[in-house]
Amino acid sequence: MRSYKRWVALMAALISVLGCAPADKPPLADHRLDDPPPLTEFRPGAAGIGDPDFPTDGNGGYDVSHYDLDIDYVPVTKQLHGVATIKAAATQDLSSFNLDFSGMTVSKVTVNNATATFRRQGSELTVTPSEPIDVKSRFTVKVTYAGQPQPIRDSANLGTFGFVATPDGAFVASEPDGSKTWFPNNDHPADKATYDFTITVPAGVTALANGELVGRPTTAQGKTTFRWRERQPMASYLATATMGKFDLREGRTPAGIAETAAVDPKFKASLNTLFKLSGEITDYWSTVFGPYPFSSTGGIVDDFAAGYALENQTKPLYGGFEPDPSIIAHELAHQWFGDSLSIKRWSELWLNEGFATYAEWLWSEHKGGKTAEAIFNQEHARPASDPIWAYPAGRARPEDLFNASVYSRGAMTLHALRKAIGDATFFKLLKTWTADHRYGNVTTEEFIRLAEQQSGKNLRPLFDAWLFQPQRPA
Ligand code: TRP
Ligand code: ZN
Repeated sequence: MRSYKRWVALMAALISVLGCAPADKPPLADHRLDDPPPLTEFRPGAAGIGDPDFPTDGNGGYDVSHYDLDIDYVPVTKQLHGVATIKAAATQDLSSFNLDFSGMTVSKVTVNNATATFRRQGSELTVTPSEPIDVKSRFTVKVTYAGQPQPIRDSANLGTFGFVATPDGAFVASEPDGSKTWFPNNDHPADKATYDFTITVPAGVTALANGELVGRPTTAQGKTTFRWRERQPMASYLATATMGKFDLREGRTPAGIAETAAVDPKFKASLNTLFKLSGEITDYWSTVFGPYPFSSTGGIVDDFAAGYALENQTKPLYGGFEPDPSIIAHELAHQWFGDSLSIKRWSELWLNEGFATYAEWLWSEHKGGKTAEAIFNQEHARPASDPIWAYPAGRARPEDLFNASVYSRGAMTLHALRKAIGDATFFKLLKTWTADHRYGNVTTEEFIRLAEQQSGKNLRPLFDAWLFQPQRPA
């Protein structure tokens, strides 16, 4: 730390602790406009990352590069013990910063190996390091915690998400902001990071996380430890530590991408189909959307009847049903749209769901079923009174993020675009889009600009009608 800042921070802290300023000078906080700026530059990081629809999701003042999650879970007691080691870089001078974390008991927090003080309020964990952190410097936060994770239950709209205990383990699917139910993190897709998972479970239980296994699982004293590593940046909501009894099939896709399929014994009969379809679809999307962005692919079917699937990075999770080709095509398309290219704000969720839904139509067309054009026509024929027309797909609402409009009108937007610019330009655009923003974050505005640039057409009216108007486009 630059020593003058250290001194100034120390003096400011001292003055505030003593509760008095030198008698001939006004207290620090009470400066006037024509005074020099306040002496200390160290400020608390914001409690939100700046998504206006989710004001306390994510945090300001730092950027995480890596999570190292060491987790011990006992299904019968539902007790989780965790140590999360988080590597980050400060984007401002920080006197304190927040992590998102809900429930559980935090026993210790260190920053750069020094004990830090912490405070909890709702889903915010505020950490005050013993020394303030300089802008641009890297720091390591270690949080030790334990308890029974509680998922988020939003029966009105999103259902149950986050860490969901099952009789034999846990079903972990956290979109949009449920990763805070099982590890402290910067819970917003605008801050992506790589992950190491070390998961210890009773022998006989399998722990599945993102990426690839590092070494073989090791068993000692009735417990097995699985190590998984996700080498490519990942949004927090895509992280999983799904545990339970599983039948596994490991291998490669026909094109040679490493693949893991896992099914709860209840879905034993689906294992080979899941493996085969996931491999075939991953390979096909690689020819349509551009090279597969990750080091492995696959899927998990667990026995929790979520009624939905989630595109967890490298291993989509299907909740309590045998997935058909259409939903596998959807979840694997998300590996490009949502996972490799992540949104900057939740209101632009159509960039995930519209693309993944359009992928279902493309898969149907590819397989000689209904063409994308036929499905578009059928969807477009929904009556003017259908609620999807009143709900503009380009502005997903926080209280109703996963509305059918975001999926269906989002997909129709892409088909309308394809018709306007032609197949050659449209499919080149998709590949350019995934290449330009690989592992990054994207906005609707960036997509519109690229589409206009690639086609040489003014596409504002088309996108406006399909994404932003509260009525059925002609
Ligand atoms: N993104 C998922 C899909 O369409 C659906 C989804 C919405 C979801 N909210 C969720 C999945 C919460 C799990 C948890 O593929
Ligand atoms: Zn989806």
